[in-house]
Amino acid sequence: MIDFQTLGQTVMARLETLGKISQSPDYLDRRYLSEQHKRANQLIDKWMTAAGMRSWQDQAGNIWGRFEAEQSDAPRYIMGSHLDTVPNGGKYDGMLGVVAPITLIEALHVEGIRLPFHLDIVGFGDEEGTRFGSTLLGSRALTGQWAASWADLQDEDGISLAQALENFGLSFDNVSEATIATENLKGYLELHIEQGPVLEQRNLSVGVVSAIAAAKRFEITVTGMAGHAGTVPMPMRLDTLAASSEMILAVESVAKEHGVVATVGQISNRPNGVNVISGKTVFSLDVRSAQDFQRDDAIADIMDRLDNIAAKRNLALEHRPTHSAHAVQCDDQLQSVLCNAIAAQDIGVHTLFSGAGHDAVAMADICPVAMLFVRCEKGISHHPAEAITTEDVSATLAVLNHTLQSLK
Ligand code: GLV
Ligand code: MN
Ligand code: MN
Repeated sequence: MIDFQTLGQTVMARLETLGKISQSPDYLDRRYLSEQHKRANQLIDKWMTAAGMRSWQDQAGNIWGRFEAEQSDAPRYIMGSHLDTVPNGGKYDGMLGVVAPITLIEALHVEGIRLPFHLDIVGFGDEEGTRFGSTLLGSRALTGQWAASWADLQDEDGISLAQALENFGLSFDNVSEATIATENLKGYLELHIEQGPVLEQRNLSVGVVSAIAAAKRFEITVTGMAGHAGTVPMPMRLDTLAASSEMILAVESVAKEHGVVATVGQISNRPNGVNVISGKTVFSLDVRSAQDFQRDDAIADIMDRLDNIAAKRNLALEHRPTHSAHAVQCDDQLQSVLCNAIAAQDIGVHTLFSGAGHDAVAMADICPVAMLFVRCEKGISHHPAEAITTEDVSATLAVLNHTLQSLK
């Protein structure tokens, strides 16, 4: 008999340990291909081995473990999520979806239970896109969607993606070897915290995701001319920080008008001196919506408004796309397996939409995908206050166990 309560406690304790691996002494920050990414992979590898899994790291730095079926030619399911975090992030976003299935597999292994399919667990190295701007790098390596031009993507210290791979012991030229075969692949399941308030409002520990939002990201560069803060008259200034402020407020207005969400979350300003007019400002733009066309209409409007502001102020404006993902529909059949597993635990069945992006978005290009959301406190995420309960994790493990026993 599997004791889900104890398993839930083990998952929470493991997440505490994993959440301490950070490149910052003050908060959780773990970026793709960092030393801390390597340490996280080593820890996951250790837990996979303890769970009776065969483990390996792929050519993109994703960590894998396989719980083998008896038949070598059995079909394959993949479960997983990401091990990278946003700066000052929480310890559940991504990590729960790697640690919980490994811990459940360990219990199956101890009980001598085998599954009629190979179950692969993957800890993706990059989902957040916080180091190189381009997001879902881990899962996009599996789906064979890395662009040659990404070799030159740079992090904030000027280290290229190609160099970072070398430093990690990998090579950009070999990343294509991380692409997986899809013949026997039956589906991808991802467990993730909800990152929103719906399940808490409905007093439910888990829910099933129906669809995932469409998203696009850009890097916007505004170029003007730096100058003396005391001597350049106001009408003669080519101040890119003032212009960017106006642009960011325009982004907020357009988002409200179109009923989408749009965020400028990152900004860098040159030369960034107290007595210097800003000459170059670069900021990020992230736009999401339930529908591709709604997102694209809003983006067209935003770009118009930014062009007008730049023209009015005699500034140059460039926008570079850094990420694009269309809205993803979760697989009906896998959704109903998850719904039945929830009902079997006497939990109310609720399906909900995901405004956040997930590795499942990339995986949907190669196989059916489905997601299980776990309630999180006040819906807080991308923040150290991110919180879930052991009871919810235990309930989710029972749902997951039922799911695995039902899949064919
Ligand atoms: C990932 O967390 C995203 O939705 O940006
Ligand atoms: Mn996240
Ligand atoms: Mn996530």
